[in-house]
Amino acid sequence: MEPIPQNGHKGLIYLNNAATSWPKPPGVIAEVKKSLQNPYFEQGRTTAGGAIDYPVAARTALAGFFCAEKPDHIIFTQNATDSLNLLIHGFTRNAPAPFHTITTELEHNSVLRPLHALEMDGAITLTTVPCTDNRVSLTTIKEALRADTRLVVMTHGSNVLGSVQDIKSIAEYLRANDIFFIVDGAQTAGHIPIDLSHMPVDAFIFTGHKALFGIPGIGGFYLSDPAAIAITKQGGTGSDSASLRHPRDMPTRFEAGTHNYPGIASLYAGVRFIEGISLAAIERKGRELTASFIRALKKTDTIHIYNESPDLPIVSFNIDGLDNHETGFILARAYQVITRTGLHCAPLVHQRIDGGNGCVRASLSWFTTPDECQVAAEAIREVAKECA
Ligand code: ALA
Repeated sequence: MEPIPQNGHKGLIYLNNAATSWPKPPGVIAEVKKSLQNPYFEQGRTTAGGAIDYPVAARTALAGFFCAEKPDHIIFTQNATDSLNLLIHGFTRNAPAPFHTITTELEHNSVLRPLHALEMDGAITLTTVPCTDNRVSLTTIKEALRADTRLVVMTHGSNVLGSVQDIKSIAEYLRANDIFFIVDGAQTAGHIPIDLSHMPVDAFIFTGHKALFGIPGIGGFYLSDPAAIAITKQGGTGSDSASLRHPRDMPTRFEAGTHNYPGIASLYAGVRFIEGISLAAIERKGRELTASFIRALKKTDTIHIYNESPDLPIVSFNIDGLDNHETGFILARAYQVITRTGLHCAPLVHQRIDGGNGCVRASLSWFTTPDECQVAAEAIREVAKECA
């Protein structure tokens, strides 16, 4: 069997953007290249001078993009998983144990696994609330609250159902009740506007390599009150170097060691790319293409769609009588349509929608064309007809 084309991608229809976006904008590739062609420059940490200080530039760009008040409260990490681990464990270290935590069945394992580990250690008690119509409401969160609830961790957008949660109302309620709120924006950042000046979350997490168009290995978070999170990583910061005590000031409080400069450069260029197009145009195109893709799939009865009205460009489905992995394999090999199959690292949502067996997920990006959507939908319908 011919291998899936790796480069040049003639004929390849890439619908796995919720895992990692591809292709990357030319400006992102150029910025990464530029970052590698010059000596790294970051005040205090490097010896070279004169080139762009990417951490400062990217922090400023991201703070503007998320309407975050303080650029220095944007922290760079490897990815959303790294951010969630740092925040969840750092919060738990600072809070009186055991305390009650709420999460949701929409979560990715990057939320579920750190919380499970803490529950097993006896550091927290955990309630995982269900979703209704692909969403978790404030009412559901309120019903799970206890006198000792200190923390809520939940996704902004489901990576399986593409549903965006009403974070603003939940954030306002939790802030008023002094409960720390961590929001995983891995699937929403770059797809929809995120205005942290009007959404009082305590921590908002992003990853670079999905809709922000950066490369893998860069992500981060915005943190409103640094003191709420214990320092769990110590090391070089290029500041206060005579002291063995890790600095408390932001952003060095959470950034030990040499930065991922090419990754940060990619994120900087990714945000500029999005702003050049406008988030409104990206969101509109995503909604229109996704709706037309769903309309096309719905012409075939044996295609079961789990999210007929997603907010994000994510469509999850199964073909009756065909295992999801087989469907994905046939689509990739016979039609060069790349999807992602299985549990998408979100096992609980699959327990709710497909008995925990998994499904096929097609996820679009700004670069997906109407033509590609039509060809992919036809391919899926053809596979469905052949196995009917
Ligand atoms: N969270 C990524 C996905 O949904 C890896 O595919």
